Amino acid sequence: MFIRDDIVYVGVNDHEIDLFEGIYDVPEGMAYNSYIIKDEKIAVMDSVDQNFGEQWLANIKKELGDAKPDYLIVQHMEPDHSANIGAFVDAYPDAKIVGNAKTFTMIKRFFGTDYADKQVVVKEGEILSLGTHELKFVFAPMVHWPEVMMTYDMTAKVFFTADAFGKFGALDIDAEWACEARRYYFGIVGKYGMQVQALLKKASALDIETICPLHGPVLSEDLGYYLDLYNTWSSYGVESEGLFIAYTSVYGNTKKAALLLKEKLEAKGCPKVAIADLAREDMAESVEDAFRYGKLVLATTTYNADIFPFMREFINDLTERGYQNRTIGIIENGTWAPMAAKVIKSKFEKSKNITFTDTTVTVNSALDAAAEAQIEALAEELLK
Ligand code: FEO
Repeated sequence: MFIRDDIVYVGVNDHEIDLFEGIYDVPEGMAYNSYIIKDEKIAVMDSVDQNFGEQWLANIKKELGDAKPDYLIVQHMEPDHSANIGAFVDAYPDAKIVGNAKTFTMIKRFFGTDYADKQVVVKEGEILSLGTHELKFVFAPMVHWPEVMMTYDMTAKVFFTADAFGKFGALDIDAEWACEARRYYFGIVGKYGMQVQALLKKASALDIETICPLHGPVLSEDLGYYLDLYNTWSSYGVESEGLFIAYTSVYGNTKKAALLLKEKLEAKGCPKVAIADLAREDMAESVEDAFRYGKLVLATTTYNADIFPFMREFINDLTERGYQNRTIGIIENGTWAPMAAKVIKSKFEKSKNITFTDTTVTVNSALDAAAEAQIEALAEELLK
């Protein structure tokens, strides 16, 4: 795949993976992107996951023939991109490795050597010339590890953005960008909104025509769309009108309450009511929906004087990612001592700008007229 006649894709698709980063379901696989910039000097941008070293080196060989890369630029040391640095060094012993000081500390930790004789250590803003292509390094710490640096090709106006603007899914599957890019963003980088904002500020000073991330498709049209979404996500803004109901239910009574709320909200004209059973649906999908909408309803059971484990995990996933600027309504259920609402509120104590609705619904075992009236009131309040 050519990005331009002198920048070519040499990444791989992974359809064997079960869980990305050991946690995320990726039913459509994953892509580990890598690129070659061909110039007087040849640069390879990042390696790929450990299982694809041979394929990646074959892709490089196919593009270069007998020519040899001069540089391997290491933008990110997470093993989905760095695992084959050693294989690259074996294949191309004369090539230099380009990274920053933190990159080489991590290379030493992963590989037992920091390749001292091959190092090109760069600093923020430094420029590496390949001949015609001038590469400027843009540091992006915590997007999504501390050593991350991105590379702006000043000649081609191509921005190599490491994990940023990536998505789940292999490249041989046609899929809308936003859905899996949002799940990827909030799962992996959601906590680092401030650092992504800093990156966007740096990016705004660059004239970018193409974005080449390390996962997902190369982006070359309507870049404002992607940049705007990243701005909304990283500033914890509301992306879509509507509301998300996340529930857990042991015997179906809390589920009935959640579904009744959804029905009432829709009858009253709520533009979108997303709903998920946290025990049975993908947790990362629920996390992205919680960040997508401005309002969230949590419906759960009191359990061991706490809340149901899947709800506890979900709230933890939100708070550790800096969940903020949202309105939350609660439906609690309990047969003898309902206390889920109190527990939920305590879990958001350190979160910024969270408003709880005045109405809390308490279900005592099963829906009754009193609980239904509270659900009606909650629906009204959420739509105000
Ligand atoms: Fe795709 Fe943070 O590694």
